[in-house]
Amino acid sequence: MAEPLRIAVLVSGGGTNLQALMDAEDKGILHSGEIVLVIASNPTAFALTRAKKKNIATAVAWKRELGSQEAFEAEIEKQLAAHKIDIIVLAGFMNILSANFTSKWPERIINVHPALIPSFCGKGFYGLHVHEAALAKGVKVSGATVHIVTPECDAGPIILQKAVEGRQDDTPEVLQRRIMEEAEWKILPEAVRLFCEDKITVENNKVYIKGE
Ligand code: GAR
Repeated sequence: MAEPLRIAVLVSGGGTNLQALMDAEDKGILHSGEIVLVIASNPTAFALTRAKKKNIATAVAWKRELGSQEAFEAEIEKQLAAHKIDIIVLAGFMNILSANFTSKWPERIINVHPALIPSFCGKGFYGLHVHEAALAKGVKVSGATVHIVTPECDAGPIILQKAVEGRQDDTPEVLQRRIMEEAEWKILPEAVRLFCEDKITVENNKVYIKGE
């Protein structure tokens, strides 16, 4: 059997999507991949505590402290190399990676976005802002998307999507939680599993899933 792919998860906050990935690994669902490194974009991310509890190596790349996008990405690259990483999962990672960085990892970075792309995505649409915008539009349906990261923000090939009901009495926090529970925590581990089992091919900017 092939060695499991070595996964780095990049996080910024609570880390519930990281938790969903670690739980999937514990259940044997992610047997073709192994989370070996968690990198947080700030030192107070609770995701770091979750990773440490599972004895997963952690690192912090804090742009404010490092001073520039170049230094920030160089720190991430240093950690990825030190841990011989095969694929990167952005799970609630709130920094945009430059084209210089993403072009070095073609079809090897996966991101979860808390809306149905191409709605409510791109620069400025992250975290609660996504749900504020969806509610301001009065959407009856929103959801989550897992996609491959390309240099253009939130525009890479879509691996999986799941729709979730938007309700008229929702607050951004309530809608965020429903989308996490009903969509993100399910489709992110599933997309990473498909990727690690080599079941994903990309043609003309579209993802095709083999033999499922
Ligand atoms: C999640 O909803 C994730 O989709 C979103 O931030 C939240 C992080 O939660 N990510 C983005 O908006 C990135 N563009 P978590 O830290 O509990 O996984």
